[in-house]
Amino acid sequence: MLRAILIALLISLGLSACSEDRDLPEPYHGLKVPPGLLESAVARENGRKLFLTSCALCHGEKADGRGVRREGLSTPPRDFTNPSWRTGTTPSRVFFAIREGVHGTPMPGWKSFSTAQTWDLVAFLLSETH
Ligand code: HEC
Repeated sequence: MLRAILIALLISLGLSACSEDRDLPEPYHGLKVPPGLLESAVARENGRKLFLTSCALCHGEKADGRGVRREGLSTPPRDFTNPSWRTGTTPSRVFFAIREGVHGTPMPGWKSFSTAQTWDLVAFLLSETH
């Protein structure tokens, strides 16, 4: 009996550990983060360049949410330097937000970027140094 409970508990723990991005819709559901992406200095640097040209206007050159266009936006742009943002999200969620935008906010979707460019942006945003 005890053994059965323990096994059930282990299974549910295992499921919750890998289901964090299960609620993302297709084709983002089960998205695989490229191996080594988050540690890649090249990906971060590529992401930084894209960020400065396309995103800094709202999110700020330091990625702190203080871009020149933030005044007058209905929702303030996210501050990516906040560690609680970094730990509260996942690479797949960030990828999804960039691709599809955030509904009900001024954050547009960026489908013009390739998959690789979008992952570069994810690597940059999730790095600790902007
Ligand atoms: C027109 C202003 C604007 C531009 C340009 C813009 N954003 Fe945003 N972004 C926002 C706003 C506003 C939000 C909503 C804040 C929130 O999440 O509640 C947001 C949210 C996000 C989020 C979701 C954060 C989260 O976890 O909730 C990500 C990721 C993001 N932006 C990345 C980018 C990237 C990458 C670019 C450039 C390719 C970009 N944004 C360009 C305004 C902008």
